[in-house]
Amino acid sequence: MKPMAYAVAPSLWAREALGFVPDQKQAEILDSSNKRIIINCHRQWGKSTISAIICLHRALFWPESLCLITAPALRQSSENFRKIISFLDGMDESPGLVEDTKLTLQLNNKSRILCLPGGSDGRTIRGFSAPDLIIEDESSRCSEELHLALLPMLARKPHSRLILASTPWGQRGHFFKTWAEGQGWQKVELRASENPRISPEYLEEMQATMSPWDFAQEFECEFVASESQLISEEMIQRALNPDIELIPFGDA
Ligand SMILES: Nc1ncnc2c1ncn2[C@@H]1O[C@H](COP(=O)(O)OP(=O)(O)OP(=O)(O)O)[C@@H](O)[C@H]1O
Ligand SMILES: [Mg+2]
Repeated sequence: MKPMAYAVAPSLWAREALGFVPDQKQAEILDSSNKRIIINCHRQWGKSTISAIICLHRALFWPESLCLITAPALRQSSENFRKIISFLDGMDESPGLVEDTKLTLQLNNKSRILCLPGGSDGRTIRGFSAPDLIIEDESSRCSEELHLALLPMLARKPHSRLILASTPWGQRGHFFKTWAEGQGWQKVELRASENPRISPEYLEEMQATMSPWDFAQEFECEFVASESQLISEEMIQRALNPDIELIPFGDA
């Protein structure tokens, strides 16, 4: 164990202590010190895995850290928790658990990791006042209420980090808005066709099975206006073109 080297190089720690070999983009995310990161990567790229590693790293190397991973529903939160536990179980030197309930674990350095299902109104996550790290997994499907409940929690500690990870889900909501307009965010994108772990045969099969709308979002990182979204963001942006003269209305 080389605690100092591992503290500043999470990708090295992931490789040597967890036996997880991150690809280039995963390593960039793991080693980033950016406080705002948005990950728009295809299905099964490793978003939840990387989220689990980031949380575990923060909790282990910074005593008394509070790390939250939120997800839209209990099923995903349980899956995130399971990933963290399985990494912990695989470590040669176990950090020691003080508490391990269904979705919460506390290490003996007093750090805590909580995997919280958002619910539709974000009520479950209110009350955690000063997290050091918040990860919103499946962010495009987390409600606006949940996201709005998370933001004030970043105010108490200037170093608090917020990481959003998802595939796109229409041209709407905070995940789309952050990707399209977020200033100061580290934006990471990877399409399935660029991932050597995903075979071209599998992608061909998915393309033949899914609607173009679903395939573009699930595997090509594209924010496609949904069929129920009558006016796309692109059309709105075009309509806001200042070069087009406004037509006077009424007496104006
Ligand atoms: N660098 C890697 N090396 C080997 N396997 C990897 C790597 N990154 C991810 N995987 C594997 O890919 C699979 C999908 O990972 P994960 O569930 O984290 O993806 P995801 O992006 O969250 O998927 P989804 O969009 O379906 O939620 C897992 O089996 C994981 O172990
Ligand atoms: Mg996932």
